[in-house]
Amino acid sequence: MALIPDEVVSEIRDRIDIVAVIGEHIQLKKSGVNWKGLCPFHQEKTPSFHVNPPRHTFYCFGCQKKGDVFAFLMEIGGKSFGEVVRELAGRVGVVIPERPMSPEEQARRSERSRLFDVNALAAAYYRGVLGDGRQGAAGRAYLEGRGIGAEVAAAFQLGLAPDGWDGLLRHFEQRRIPLEPALLLGLVARRSSGSGHYDKFRNRLMCPVILPAGEIAGFSGRTLANDDPETPKYLNSPENPIYKKSQLLFGLHAARPSFAKRGRAILVEGNFDVIALHQAGFTETVAPLGTALTAEQVESLRRLAPSVVLCLDGDKAGRAAALRAIPILVAAGVDARVVALPDKEDPDSFVRSRGAAALEDRVAHAPSAIDHFLEEIWYRSDRSAEARAAALREAAPLIAALGADSIKRDIVIQQFARALDVESRVVRMALAARPAPAAPTPAPAPAAPPPPSAELKVFAILADHPDLVAEADQLGIRSPLTDARLRDMYSRRLSGQSFLDAAPQDISDHVAREVLSGAYAAVPNPRRTLMDAVRMLRSEHMEQELARLHRAAKDANRRGDTTLERELTRKYVETRKHAEELKRRPEEEPR
Ligand code: CTP
Ligand code: MN
Repeated sequence: MALIPDEVVSEIRDRIDIVAVIGEHIQLKKSGVNWKGLCPFHQEKTPSFHVNPPRHTFYCFGCQKKGDVFAFLMEIGGKSFGEVVRELAGRVGVVIPERPMSPEEQARRSERSRLFDVNALAAAYYRGVLGDGRQGAAGRAYLEGRGIGAEVAAAFQLGLAPDGWDGLLRHFEQRRIPLEPALLLGLVARRSSGSGHYDKFRNRLMCPVILPAGEIAGFSGRTLANDDPETPKYLNSPENPIYKKSQLLFGLHAARPSFAKRGRAILVEGNFDVIALHQAGFTETVAPLGTALTAEQVESLRRLAPSVVLCLDGDKAGRAAALRAIPILVAAGVDARVVALPDKEDPDSFVRSRGAAALEDRVAHAPSAIDHFLEEIWYRSDRSAEARAAALREAAPLIAALGADSIKRDIVIQQFARALDVESRVVRMALAARPAPAAPTPAPAPAAPPPPSAELKVFAILADHPDLVAEADQLGIRSPLTDARLRDMYSRRLSGQSFLDAAPQDISDHVAREVLSGAYAAVPNPRRTLMDAVRMLRSEHMEQELARLHRAAKDANRRGDTTLERELTRKYVETRKHAEELKRRPEEEPR
């Protein structure tokens, strides 16, 4: 498609009546210069969606969605920018000047469209076979057995490759469809001996890979010969000019309109997980095509979905795949969460045995990808030195993926340090052992004694400077303390016991060593060292609090509890402000 010049886009934007266009989707009432209505992008009972005609924009105070008329139509209809611009151009009588294509462009274009045409013909053939009374019976029984209804089968344009060597071939020959493109597309192959061709997909349930605009890029065929060990379970289209598996997501055409509505994308492993989840109402589900998640796939999701929930198989392979996918999602800046399914379950089996509500519960409460990552490596670590070292090596790409955001990096490093019960210096060392991240990192802090976790650091300073305890307490260091033993120790310290006496019996050697090391006895400005440590502690705490509020607000939204959602959102904004102030505040000077 040719590019649409910017002036033409602005002209359409200026000429179109944004109130009329949006008014076709929701009811709008005039309110001053604005028009108000119930937001179509999140659930609400009182209108917070505003349209501002002079500015040609809309804005929702509830979910913060905003943009121009094109953005609105893209979001609500799951369409591309080109599609909506063309649609609106027709309405206001603006002619889009199509830049003539160069001969090479034309050749490439016609090759691509020829390939898409041939795939469409093949898909129609496979659909016909599945619908055929006699030939399709096995395929229909298979779908029925997996609980896939007619509506979902139609939305995914499922078909059946018959159990023979030349069904598609004969279909094409009868219609004089040239075989060259079908060869390139991997639909047919040349016989190695003698002449002639044969069908590549045989006795398979055919899942077309459909692009959002409706073209069919390729196929993924699942065998119906379940017990034949010689037959691969899946046969996929080979790479070709229109099928680049690292850029495609299975189910995207059906899921795209739901991303905005649901506020998330669910990422699963298998085609049948996608189909089964759509069947169960999770219409925001997609999957990569039998390969590990790629940065390109993540990028297309990032633009479309506010958050991505990984929901991979519960077996070892699925868990490992999640750990590999997380750094890619984190690096792309996606709000990523992870649902861990029980061993031996995949999303398909899970919804079928436990129901959609059970999956929704897990998806809605999925921990952040980083928390999940920590839990996983923690869970696997037997706390031997080797296991911890291995866990750290695995953590390195994730932390590197955080790029230059030094605050987030620091926090995550400390989270890892705490989870693995090592000093954060050790985590940093593991990081330094690998190539530097692509993004520039700020200069390292001067070689002060590298602090352990923020909580321990505060304790260590107080142990060396008991005169600062009262002051620290005024700064409110109690609430961010997450470790019960430290909280207990702190209470006893406040009531006059020394840290040494207050230290519980079961405190780890590591904690004892850190707190009682005397490392801070001789720092030049203990008060300032304490302030900095408290600041880090509170910042860490607030990040956790923010994540919690965010999850709770989303959850309230999902349940349609707008009062609670508003309250949580207000708290979130307030906390965020505090957190930001905390980060900006210059180092505190002694008074
Ligand atoms: N896959 C593949 N080749 C295989 C196995 C899997 O290309 N031999 C790809 C397919 O895209 C498949 C995905 O990897 O959808 C995940 O595999 P799996 O979990 O086995 O797929 P499911 O769709 O869940 O398969 P099943 O019908 O067994 O539920
Ligand atoms: Mn499966």
